[in-house]
Amino acid sequence: MTTITPSPLSAKIFDQIAAAVTEGLTSDPKWLPSWLFYDAAGSRLFDQITDLPEYYVTRTERGILAEQAEEIIAQAARGPALRLVELGAGSADKTRLLLAAAVDRQDTVFYEPVDVSATALVEAQNRIEREIPGVLVCPRVMDYTKGLELDPCLPGEHRLVLYIGSSIGNFEPKEAKRLLENVRAALDPGDCLLLGIDLVKGEQTLLDAYDDAAGVTAAFNRNVLTRLNKELDADFDLNAFQHCAWWNPAESRMEMHLQSRVEQTVWLAALDQRVNFDAGETIHTENSYKYRPGQAEALLAESGFHPETTWTDERGWFAVCIGRAR
Ligand code: AVI
Repeated sequence: MTTITPSPLSAKIFDQIAAAVTEGLTSDPKWLPSWLFYDAAGSRLFDQITDLPEYYVTRTERGILAEQAEEIIAQAARGPALRLVELGAGSADKTRLLLAAAVDRQDTVFYEPVDVSATALVEAQNRIEREIPGVLVCPRVMDYTKGLELDPCLPGEHRLVLYIGSSIGNFEPKEAKRLLENVRAALDPGDCLLLGIDLVKGEQTLLDAYDDAAGVTAAFNRNVLTRLNKELDADFDLNAFQHCAWWNPAESRMEMHLQSRVEQTVWLAALDQRVNFDAGETIHTENSYKYRPGQAEALLAESGFHPETTWTDERGWFAVCIGRAR
C-alpha cells in the first residue's frame, strides 16, 4: 500500500493554468480547457451532476457494468491473474462493480488508480480498501494525458485498464487517438482496455443533460471563473456570464460556453492582463463528443487494440467496449 498526501497548488500547476488561460482568452473565439473545471469545488459539482435525473451518462454506464461486470472480467482475465488500472480516480460505485467481480475470481487484486489529483486518489484509496477486502490499492499521481508509466505486472498477471465515464469524449478526435496510443505504449500485448463511450441520441435528451433544471451544470461551468478569480486574482463577475449548452451536429458534440451578457473588461492581476468581451461573446469551455455505433471500435483499432466486445444499454445510449493490446 502506498500512502500519499495532497499538496497545495504547486508552481508547476500555476504555470500550466497561466499559460492555458493566456492562450485561451487571447484567442478568437475565446476558450478555456475543460480540465480547469476540476478543482475541489468543481469535482464536487461534477459528482452532483452524476446524480441528476437529466444526466443519463453515469446511470446508463453503471447499468451496463452492473449487468456485465462478471463477463467483462472473465473476458479480460485470460490467464491466472488480472490487475486493474483506472485512468482518473473513478467514481466509487462503477469501479467497485468491476473490482468486486475481479475479487470473486482471484483472492487479491491490485488496483492502480491514476490521477493528477492526489486528493482524489487518497479518497479512492480509503474508500476502496475499506469497502472491498482483497483489493490492494497502488495509487499513481500522474497526468495520464501526457503519457503513462505503470508498475510492471507480476509473472502471469496482466492488466485491464479502465477508461470509463465517457472521459474520452472530452478530447478532440486526434487527441483521443494519441491518448489511447500512449495507453497502448504502456501495456503489454494481451492487456485490455475498457472504454466507456457516450453515443449520439435525441437532441433534447442531450440538451437537458448539459443544462439541467436545477442549474448544477451551470454552476459547474461558471465555477471555472470562480477558480480564475481565486488562482489568477481575476475579477470575473459571475452574474455577467450565462451558461450555454448546445448540440453541434456537424462535429457530433455537445458544447458548453459561458456567454458574456454585456460588453465588459475583466482584469487578471496575476497575468497582468486585461480581457475585453463584447455583449454576447462566448468562452468555449468544453466539448463532449458523442460517438456513432462502430466509431469506438474504430478508435480502438486505430490506436493499437483489437476491439473484442461492445456492450450497450437497451436504448443504445451508451457503449462499453473492450479492446486487447495487439
Ligand atoms: C467528465 N465528462 C465525461 C463530462 C461530460 O459529460 O462530458 C463532463 C460534464 N460536462 C457537463 N456535464 C458533465
